[in-house]
Amino acid sequence: MLSIVLFGAPGAGKGTQSKMLVEKYNLTYISTGDILRKEIAAGTEIGIQAKDIINQGGLVDDEIIVQIIEKTIENSTTGGILFDGFPRTVVQAYILEGLLHRMNRRLLCLLSLEAPREMLIERMLKRASIEGRDDDKKEVILNRFQEYDKKTIPVAEFYKEKGIYCPVDGVGSVEEVFARLETIIDKTLENAYRNIILYGAPGSGRGTQAKNLAKKYDLVYVSTGAMIRDEIEKGSEIGMESKIYIERGDNVPDLIAIKLIEQKISNNPNARGFLFKGFPSTYVQAYIMDGILEKIHTSVTCMIEMQSNTLQCIRRLTQRSKTEKRRVYDMDPEIIIHRLESYENSAANVRSYYQKKNKYYNVNSDAPVDVVFETLCKTVDEALKKA
Ligand code: AP5
Ligand code: MG
Repeated sequence: MLSIVLFGAPGAGKGTQSKMLVEKYNLTYISTGDILRKEIAAGTEIGIQAKDIINQGGLVDDEIIVQIIEKTIENSTTGGILFDGFPRTVVQAYILEGLLHRMNRRLLCLLSLEAPREMLIERMLKRASIEGRDDDKKEVILNRFQEYDKKTIPVAEFYKEKGIYCPVDGVGSVEEVFARLETIIDKTLENAYRNIILYGAPGSGRGTQAKNLAKKYDLVYVSTGAMIRDEIEKGSEIGMESKIYIERGDNVPDLIAIKLIEQKISNNPNARGFLFKGFPSTYVQAYIMDGILEKIHTSVTCMIEMQSNTLQCIRRLTQRSKTEKRRVYDMDPEIIIHRLESYENSAANVRSYYQKKNKYYNVNSDAPVDVVFETLCKTVDEALKKA
């Protein structure tokens, strides 16, 4: 899930850009400055403690900041978060690490808006004449810069070491700066997630390879078949509705698959990406997949088709039907043929969907399991390099 810190000196444009970012990426906005100003206006205990410090351009105590951040995060939704004005000290950077850990999230990046001091002073003095913020007086502004240089700049080092520090030119119109931020966020998101689709005929060995592949590339394994089997076992409404399709060897309705996939995604906010098996299996589902990933601002990295001789697939499924791993749809040769036919009917279109996007790869999966795994890993590495 997308969590971002917007960083920068006083007047750099954090508040201005935040409003637009929150809208575009559907984020919960947490601005410690805004929260403190509200506490002051409401005359709360925290407000009383913070007022003089803020009006002199100093930094409010870390203890107070933890309290307000905790309170706000507890009330926040499960989506992404945009932090403005926090962390502002190295201690706060550690606090944020702890908070994110507790929420099972990670920070995508720290975007640092950069502009010359004279320009920032000019902007804040102009703002003073419009909004009348108590800390927008020349001498207070200079104190705020001093605090920033002494206590906040070291925070940048903290994130440089983590490799997620992104400087952004803050000079230019609001729209120009926003476009720069958007480009960086989109690119970072693209690189932060790896979404792999393992495609192929029933019996081509996707399930066998998928779990190991997910483990090796630190991805969350999303198998629509496995999720549906779980639902059937639980006797849930979705399970009951799906049972009849599964027994016939048919796909469950797309809406059911979408619901299960989205549930899996939202239960794994810290995922570095997903390995999909069993979905998409039709041309329509290829579109749906893009739609699902778009909602979390990411996309398919590659689609790998495991190509197998049809007789080999039949042999594998028949063999499985004699083991404990048997599926209801392995037992009847008619159903096996029906499933293989469905695959063959959709494969050309699904393949071309990803070929057109330059994201299609294939491996021969008739070889022994470990040989296929090795080839798959090489293919994934190649796809990641290209992406
Ligand atoms: P806070 O409210 O966070 O203030 P700040 O960091 O000093 O930053 P500003 O809000 O002044 O600037 P901004 O970067 O948001 O710029 P804006 O978009 O408004 O904190 C206030 C105080 O609270 C601190 O001093 C501290 O005491 C305390 N505090 C807060 N968080 C704390 C923490 N974590 N720990 C301890 N203490 C904490 O833009 C400025 C102006 O420029 C606006 O008028 C805007 O319209 C204009 N503008 C913006 N972009 C452009 C552009 N591209 N071109 C022309 N004009 C522009
Ligand atoms: Mg601000």
